[in-house]
Amino acid sequence: RVEDCKIIEIPKVINPEGNIGILENGFLPFETKRVYYLYDVPSDAVRGGHAHKELYQFLIPVSGSFDVMLHDGIQQKRVFLNKPDKGLLIVPGIWRELENFASGSVCLVLASNNYKESDYIRDFDQFLKLQ
Ligand code: TYD
Repeated sequence: RVEDCKIIEIPKVINPEGNIGILENGFLPFETKRVYYLYDVPSDAVRGGHAHKELYQFLIPVSGSFDVMLHDGIQQKRVFLNKPDKGLLIVPGIWRELENFASGSVCLVLASNNYKESDYIRDFDQFLKLQ
């Protein structure tokens, strides 16, 4: 459900010479097996457009900002990510679209498993039928 997708504040060490955001094993509700990042995303691009059957993800706007639209088949929620110390947990079974990337934005993604195409639902009508 979209209510289970929540903003989680990332522990940090603040320093006048620059801050450190830290994610240690055990902090997130899943174990990270894959890290990837989106960059050079055109401002008119829409990323995502799929749901995952089992994958948990944690999205961090390490630079810049973007919108995440979440849909669980019943409810929809839009989240604006623009702070590098605030990430978004996306649980399995949620349709998501990422858009309105500010120039230079980087979206870092921690994922609970390796890439597996069979974990994707890429058709919205099929996604709705599965709910
Ligand atoms: P996709 O997850 O659909 O992109 P996004 O949700 O960011 O819009 O992935 C786009 C393409 O990249 C797709 O062909 C699969 C490939 N890909 C990998 O091979 N490994 C990965 O870890 C990811 C995230 C994508």
